[in-house]
Amino acid sequence: MKKIGMGLIGPGFVAAHHIDAVRRLGDVEVVAIAGSSQESADRKAREYKVDRAYGDFHALIADPDIQVIHNTTPNYLHLPVTMAAIAAGKHVISDKPLAINSRDGRTMRDAAVAAKIGHVVTFNYRGNPLVQQARGMVSRGEAGGVSFVHGHYLQDWLTDPNVYSWRSDPAKGGVSSALGDIGSHWCDLAEHMSGQRIVSVLADLTTVIPVRYSAGASAQAFSGDSSGERTAVEVHAEDLASVLLRFDGGAKGSFSVGQVLPGHKNDLQLEVNGRTCSLKWKQEEQNELWIGHHNKPNAMMAKDPSLVSPEVLRYVHLPGGHQESWADAFLNVMRDAYEWIGDGAAPASKPSMLPTFDDGYRSTCIVEAMLQSHAEGGVWKSVEYVASQA
Ligand SMILES: NC(=O)c1ccc[n+]([C@@H]2O[C@H](COP(=O)([O-])OP(=O)(O)OC[C@H]3O[C@@H](n4cnc5c(N)ncnc54)[C@H](O)[C@@H]3O)[C@@H](O)[C@H]2O)c1
Repeated sequence: MKKIGMGLIGPGFVAAHHIDAVRRLGDVEVVAIAGSSQESADRKAREYKVDRAYGDFHALIADPDIQVIHNTTPNYLHLPVTMAAIAAGKHVISDKPLAINSRDGRTMRDAAVAAKIGHVVTFNYRGNPLVQQARGMVSRGEAGGVSFVHGHYLQDWLTDPNVYSWRSDPAKGGVSSALGDIGSHWCDLAEHMSGQRIVSVLADLTTVIPVRYSAGASAQAFSGDSSGERTAVEVHAEDLASVLLRFDGGAKGSFSVGQVLPGHKNDLQLEVNGRTCSLKWKQEEQNELWIGHHNKPNAMMAKDPSLVSPEVLRYVHLPGGHQESWADAFLNVMRDAYEWIGDGAAPASKPSMLPTFDDGYRSTCIVEAMLQSHAEGGVWKSVEYVASQA
């Protein structure tokens, strides 16, 4: 079987999971990786058991054996890396957020659509089978008309002021922290599950820890290493936010995000309340879907191939009671992405679960509206998203 050639740019934390997922597909060859220097690329290539290593991402993009580029660089490099890949006619799978602002997001969306390449952004929570189960129940009307969409995405990895990486530097991570990094996941999932789009927002943002202590360029996110010499850095990006939402289908919503909330590791929760029933999915207990009723007992649906709807079966890999996880949902997104790309990546044949650059661009518009809402003193702001003209 001829394998699809994959090249990855930005071999850090999340890169290992991209490589693991595509290797599980079986028909994808990890041809090369590119790092910030030849030395780091060589080291990572040995670690991931990849044959080719490039110290310059342009060289990887020019490699004729590579058809699909995975962009897992820090946020500020998403634009130059992705635009270079599109210009070379390569398909692109970009990690989120697609861009550090909506202008760049729209540039990438428009370029990808015009080039007719496959374009995917890793809003990977969509790949969870019970997210798809809930989405299907809403879209078939089984939950009734949706009136309320709410939840939170809470983490604690920025609780220690000694944690400082590119994510807290506005030039590299973008001006938003919690909303751009994890609020983007929550809003995408809320739209995906509810079938409604966020049209306006009212946001209240806080920077709980305004001074952090940097150990320099080598600092890695999530490392927990607080040793060595440090310099004080002022941080202006929000590490806590609460937002009210209005959806285009008439639903109202609210959610909070935070990165400084002790004990909350990856606490993403989303609840959709319909007139017939409520559906709640928790990332940390992702093998269960809570179904709430008014006139009969509530139910807990297990992730079980014998229980899910037929269209969800392709996303379930194990019998009921066998726990599936973050990596399995990530694999589901990669499998849909490579099947779409393998079939020619025509817009009409895109699997409905698969998030594209259009979704990534929408997300940057939503985050921008939230930042503006807060900057103007907490007023309702419309989401200024422009649909593709192509
Ligand atoms: N989908 C998810 O749930 C998820 C999870 C984590 C991170 N992410 C996203 O993935 C991206 C990377 O995050 P991370 O946590 O892996 O960061 P990281 O800092 O661990 O990794 C980034 C890597 O890019 C490399 N790099 C820097 N400049 C480069 C250059 N010019 N050329 C090639 N490589 C370069 C760095 O050396 C590092 O190895 C971010 O956009 C982040 O938002 C997404």
